[in-house]
Amino acid sequence: MQVKFISAITKITLFCIFIVMFGYDAIAIQPSDFTQPEVCGGCHTEIYAQWNGSMHSNSHKDPVYEKLFIMVSKEMNRTFDPFCSKCHVPIDFLSGNIPSADNYKVSEISEKGISCDFCHTVNASSGIGNGAFISSPGKIKRGPFDDSDYSTFHQIEYSQLHTRSEFCGMCHDVYHPFNGLVLENTYSEWKEGPYNETTVCQDCHMTPGVTMFKANKGRAAAGAPMREHIYTHYIVGGNAMLPELLGSPEHERLAKERLRSAAKIEIIKFKKKEDNKSMDLIVKVTNIGAGHKLPTGLTEARQIWLEIEAKDVSGKTIFESGKIDADGYIDHDAIKYHTVFGDAQGKPTEKVWLAEKILLDNRIPPKGYSEENFSFALPQDARYPLSVDVRLNYVSASQELSDLLFGKGKVKPPVIEMASVKGTIDGIQYTPGKNIPGFSSFFLLMVIFIFSLIKRMKTGVGIVGKEMFEKI
Ligand code: HEC
Ligand code: HEC
Ligand code: HEC
Ligand code: HEC
Ligand code: HEC
Repeated sequence: MQVKFISAITKITLFCIFIVMFGYDAIAIQPSDFTQPEVCGGCHTEIYAQWNGSMHSNSHKDPVYEKLFIMVSKEMNRTFDPFCSKCHVPIDFLSGNIPSADNYKVSEISEKGISCDFCHTVNASSGIGNGAFISSPGKIKRGPFDDSDYSTFHQIEYSQLHTRSEFCGMCHDVYHPFNGLVLENTYSEWKEGPYNETTVCQDCHMTPGVTMFKANKGRAAAGAPMREHIYTHYIVGGNAMLPELLGSPEHERLAKERLRSAAKIEIIKFKKKEDNKSMDLIVKVTNIGAGHKLPTGLTEARQIWLEIEAKDVSGKTIFESGKIDADGYIDHDAIKYHTVFGDAQGKPTEKVWLAEKILLDNRIPPKGYSEENFSFALPQDARYPLSVDVRLNYVSASQELSDLLFGKGKVKPPVIEMASVKGTIDGIQYTPGKNIPGFSSFFLLMVIFIFSLIKRMKTGVGIVGKEMFEKI
């Protein structure tokens, strides 16, 4: 009797151990629960073509991600592997199949990154940031239509979440998993900015235009009804480098176009100082197109900066700033908009896993601007007119990060011009003390002189006076 009782307890205990050890896997989500994007593409042809080549489709293939992931995996003894994988390979994360530095391999579907069936089987979110999605793969696909029963392949359910920025916010806010430091903050920048009442992420990133909502009449699938608007799935940001590298020319083109829609630069002042020996230059950079800060996302890597060159008429450079040297480094004194993280010792670091504080964040808020003052010596032999060329440039990865990941000088991230403006100064107009009238005053005097001549011819009176202007 006692033996029987003990063996029953042993059996129950063993069963419990089995459930704890293996039962989880038996009930957990498998990669095979998700449908391959090519299958969805069978009917959703255009949407598939737009998604294929997007950064979402490349979130695992991306060599910049791969290198950084392998580095953190090694340095931090695999403790960050699940964290990174949650957003970059969500299907394998859900399946408990976490890649590592030794084995970067994932299931076939996760090689295709964040794909159709992942996004469209999310049924709720647990909040904002760090991959706050709740997934229930299966026959039901969730999306923006509340009146659709046209698909024979799958069932359909209206999901308000998919139409809101909060859907994107599940992954587009990133906090350090151990110390909570803000690493990426795109959703919160949008939420705290002027667009949160009017324009969601989808309005800018899922329409054919590159800035604001533009209606895109069409069909969501072969045989589906005509609709007033179909959301596009290119979902490009500023990354033109990776689409170029991975061979998606359309995404590369759209990313460049988007960057060119983001900012405006103006020359507020380009003038000689009172001392006659130096110049003042004030440049204003306005974030006109981005619904979040400029730049946003991975901003310890992304760099936006001002490149300036002032010349005299002979082409001699009298001032420059923001030039790139032969090794690809941006000049130290350049005005750069980015984030600098500091490690425990307060030293700048490109390694987000070591980040404990933010040393600098001078990015430009949505609809906000930044005014930059430059002052430089004016060579005595400078010949007029003087001119200045101002450019706003963008790179997806700083040379510092690129060297860290790929080896010194191995990769030179391409520089994309976002905006440019020119200014001139003719020298005569602005020369203080000499009192030579400028061209406009000279022109006015000429007009008055000609009128006085006409009047003299007509009336014989040689005075340019009130009556004359009244007659005209
Ligand atoms: C056999 C053709 C076919 C296949 C394959 C197919 N769909 Fe659909 N899907 C449709 C049709 C038709 C509609 C209805 C479009 C409409 O109402 O305008 C639709 C609608 C949708 C919607 C909109 C749902 C809503 O409520 O807003 C989503 C999301 C969707 N499909 C996702 C997918 C995903 C993900 C896959 C792959 C797992 C897929 N579809 C495969 C035909 C298909
Ligand atoms: C990053 C997540 C994400 C991925 C990946 C994704 N979608 Fe979508 N999709 C969305 C969102 C969000 C919407 C709704 C936008 C809105 O209404 O504001 C949408 C809308 C749709 C719709 C409704 C019609 C439309 O475009 O307005 C269909 C159909 C659809 N997606 C199919 C697909 C297919 C097929 C794929 C893969 C080729 C795919 N989606 C990949 C997020 C995604
Ligand atoms: C499952 C998490 C997840 C969701 C949900 C998600 N994204 Fe992303 N998104 C990513 C990751 C990860 C990348 C970066 C992939 C890479 O560069 O390797 C990315 C890249 C992007 C990029 C390209 C960035 C660049 O540098 O060019 C844009 C734009 C973007 N997402 C917008 C959106 C929008 C808009 C939504 C909502 C409709 C959304 N994302 C939903 C995870 C997500
Ligand atoms: C008013 C239009 C607009 C809205 C709204 C908007 N964006 Fe953007 N987004 C842009 C523009 C323009 C750029 C290119 C400039 C840049 O990189 O910041 C961009 C760039 C990006 C990038 C790439 C940044 C980089 O350089 O790597 C990501 C990621 C992104 N957006 C995600 C989002 C998400 C998520 C939301 C919603 C929370 C959102 N955007 C809302 C216009 C918008
Ligand atoms: C909460 C979701 C999330 C987590 C967790 C996450 N990322 Fe990302 N990652 C993103 C998003 C969103 C982007 C796109 C932002 C942008 O384009 O600026 C991105 C972009 C990147 C990029 C830029 C790729 C390129 O081509 O420029 C790299 C590299 C990267 N992540 C590495 C990592 C590593 C390594 C980890 C783990 C330490 C990690 N990420 C964890 C969401 C996440």
